[in-house]
Amino acid sequence: MSTFSYAGLYARNASEPKGLGFGTRGKYDFAVAYPDPGSLPLAGLLDGLRQAMEEEGGDLSLYAHPQGYTPLREFVAAKLQRDRAINVPAEEIVLGDGSSQPIHMIAETLLDPGDVVLTEDFVYAGTLNTFRRFRADMRGVATDEEGMIPASVEEVIRGARGEGRPPKLIYTVPTFQNPQGWTMTLARRKALVQLSQQYDVPIVEDDCYVDLRYEGTDEPSIHSLDGSGRVLYVASFSKIIAPGMRIGYMTGPREFLERALGAKSGGSVSTFGSWAVHRYSTGHLHSHIEEINDIQRDRRDAMLAALDEHFGGSGARWSRPEGGLFIWLQLPAGADAAAVRDDILDEYDVGYLAGPPFAPDGVSGTNCLRLCFGYNTAEEITEGIGRLAAAFRAKGLIA
Ligand SMILES: Cc1ncc(COP(=O)(O)O)c(C=O)c1O
Repeated sequence: MSTFSYAGLYARNASEPKGLGFGTRGKYDFAVAYPDPGSLPLAGLLDGLRQAMEEEGGDLSLYAHPQGYTPLREFVAAKLQRDRAINVPAEEIVLGDGSSQPIHMIAETLLDPGDVVLTEDFVYAGTLNTFRRFRADMRGVATDEEGMIPASVEEVIRGARGEGRPPKLIYTVPTFQNPQGWTMTLARRKALVQLSQQYDVPIVEDDCYVDLRYEGTDEPSIHSLDGSGRVLYVASFSKIIAPGMRIGYMTGPREFLERALGAKSGGSVSTFGSWAVHRYSTGHLHSHIEEINDIQRDRRDAMLAALDEHFGGSGARWSRPEGGLFIWLQLPAGADAAAVRDDILDEYDVGYLAGPPFAPDGVSGTNCLRLCFGYNTAEEITEGIGRLAAAFRAKGLIA
């Protein structure tokens, strides 16, 4: 019997093939934002899980609350109030499979094909891909080291309105931005809120790195500067406990959450994972964040020192983030870091992601690359950045 083919059956909106498998990783793996495996609080998560199983294990026989495990939503509400001046009750929190699921729910709830979405000139590729799945028209806004430039936001909004297509959303990662590393200043946050209110374009504030601060002081959340319901806020336990836990959350106006909940696939978030995160976080999360920040601060410093040493005078520029997991390296114009990426992984064992996956148009930024410093040790980072500079020199990309 001939093998069945799905070729004629795919939905119009089906995604492009992604390729199965995981891709090759370098020994010096600056490509993906993994935390240090040694810093994961495995024993604490296990203890928390055991405690919750003893206390309420029988509840595993039930499907959980559609918004997620209530004590964890209460924990999140208290954290948001304390750390981000976001005053919402647990009833207005929805837990998701990471923050990726809430972002997907927002897209499904708000975006029709062709809707214009504003975002940074380079931004988290996962969200770009999600919004593209809903056939959004992604438009990049110019940024500098203070975040989105308000005049550019306004220009892009007015341009879209001029086409008769008022933008549906502004998506931003305002703190320790992925991939560029900057943090939006208070003045820029206020200007963004003002534009959002003036032109009636809601903002999705993706704040998943905010706790990873190694120096300086926090900027207020964009949500706390609004008060009109135009800001949808998403964040995650992925960067402060572990991506493998797959627990994130969002908040927004009740009216919006009620609609968005209908776009949540798979019912609730795992009770099992929520128990571990909730019991562990109560009492331990604060000190754990301090611990991982000490580790990651050292790694950031090692990467910055190695960049100074090996890329100084090369014509390249790079960001100096106060937190988060990324440094954005810009090679001289015309240098194509995207074209040599696979060869550098093979020949030098160094991984990175070049600019295009982070570009709203999918092609800009070939001379840019994102370097993650969370995974390798400081010694490995020093060695890996030296190799990267040698690779770029050997290929004629830098002086
Ligand atoms: C800016 C940003 N938002 C969202 C996510 C999704 O993370 P998760 O679904 O694990 O919460 C990531 C992951 O890297 C990210 O960098």
